[in-house]
Amino acid sequence: METSSKQLRIGLAGLGNVGSGVYKNLLLNRHILQDRTGAHLQVTRIAVRDPNRKRDVDVSPEMLTTEWRDLIDDPQIDVIVELIGGDDEAFKLITAALKAGKAVVTGNKAVLAKHGKQLIELSEKQNTPLYCEAAVAGGIPIIKAVKEALVGNRIDSIYGIINGTSNYILTRMTKAGISFSEALGEARDKGFAEADPSLDINGWDAGHKAIILGWLSYGRWLKPEEVSVNGIETISSEDVTFADSLGYEIKLLGVIRQNQGDERIEVRVAPSLIPRTHILSSVDGVFNAVAVHGNVVGETLFYGSGAGQDATSSAVISDLADVAENLINEVGCTGFVPHGDYGVALPLEETLSQYYLRLSVVDEPGVLARIANITGENGIGILSVIQPEPKEPSEHIPLVLLLHDATYGTVSTALKAVLALESVESEHTLLRVETLER
Ligand code: HSE
Repeated sequence: METSSKQLRIGLAGLGNVGSGVYKNLLLNRHILQDRTGAHLQVTRIAVRDPNRKRDVDVSPEMLTTEWRDLIDDPQIDVIVELIGGDDEAFKLITAALKAGKAVVTGNKAVLAKHGKQLIELSEKQNTPLYCEAAVAGGIPIIKAVKEALVGNRIDSIYGIINGTSNYILTRMTKAGISFSEALGEARDKGFAEADPSLDINGWDAGHKAIILGWLSYGRWLKPEEVSVNGIETISSEDVTFADSLGYEIKLLGVIRQNQGDERIEVRVAPSLIPRTHILSSVDGVFNAVAVHGNVVGETLFYGSGAGQDATSSAVISDLADVAENLINEVGCTGFVPHGDYGVALPLEETLSQYYLRLSVVDEPGVLARIANITGENGIGILSVIQPEPKEPSEHIPLVLLLHDATYGTVSTALKAVLALESVESEHTLLRVETLER
């Protein structure tokens, strides 16, 4: 890699919200960055889709190109910052950059979740680093925390609120008592939700981040089909209210942990009830938080802005500082080095948790006994039951059960039998209750 003394020349692919933040904040903090890294970090070329688009940063038109390949072909550029999003084109870009011996910094969780194994192998083969602090939890330095600060630990578990949009929606449903669609409308009006918020709502934005954390903690890239992902679109105000009365909040929670007693790992994302006594339950609005349990350190918690121009650009810039250090010290691939490769994915059927089950049942004697009979036959204990007294005569009434620890497979079998009862409607909600104990 050709580099002039103590100068890091950056090719920026993408000048959207985060790209503009990187450009702006590199200039804002150029002096402290130079003092701290010993290098002058300078964006020298920028690839954009539309050079005529109005932007909130003042960039000389000569710096712009519409071809990201121009950045790769430019021998003056030391590092490529990939912020174009998506997966196929980003995969081509990162591959080409690494093959050209240029370090890569990306904030793109989708490309890593889909092609991470290949890209990391290429990075190692080329002895050229690939950094991705901005891909998980925006400004929270969770990648560096797990990779560096917690290097002396085996990671027992990570529980994360790692999607700001869904956390905003659930917070508003809980605190303001508004519906899912009203809360989504608010998130859009405030600019939190993307124009197409489907990956936020269906859980896959968090799913991609959880896959990266799974790899970072356990060295294994789980395939999307090995990861269970559910979004928040089915959460009703009724469930939020019942959870509240039971002492829980509903949060879209990423769970990344090693199965107790063996080396199988589980990576999943779902709206889950978490106890109001746990600090994660008070992470509100667009904020993210990640609780990491290490076998030496015990419980740690990282909190901050999980999205947004400034927070995400802070993460990109920290990776650029690492690239500068690599160049100055003339070392190659000090990118991701996960702590090991532990086992295989735990099948969803074997994953263990408590459950919240809301049913709609005919208001007649014996219903609860028949349901309890089925849970009992399947070895599932009942922790508590709510059956609110109907305010007016109604054929169907809600019945909410909190169930003891059970595997998903067992709960699914019991649920099927419960739903087959004549007095139970098919409409129901089944959510996990996470005790977050380890
Ligand atoms: N849209 C994401 C969120 C940020 O709402 O958290 C980028 O991953």
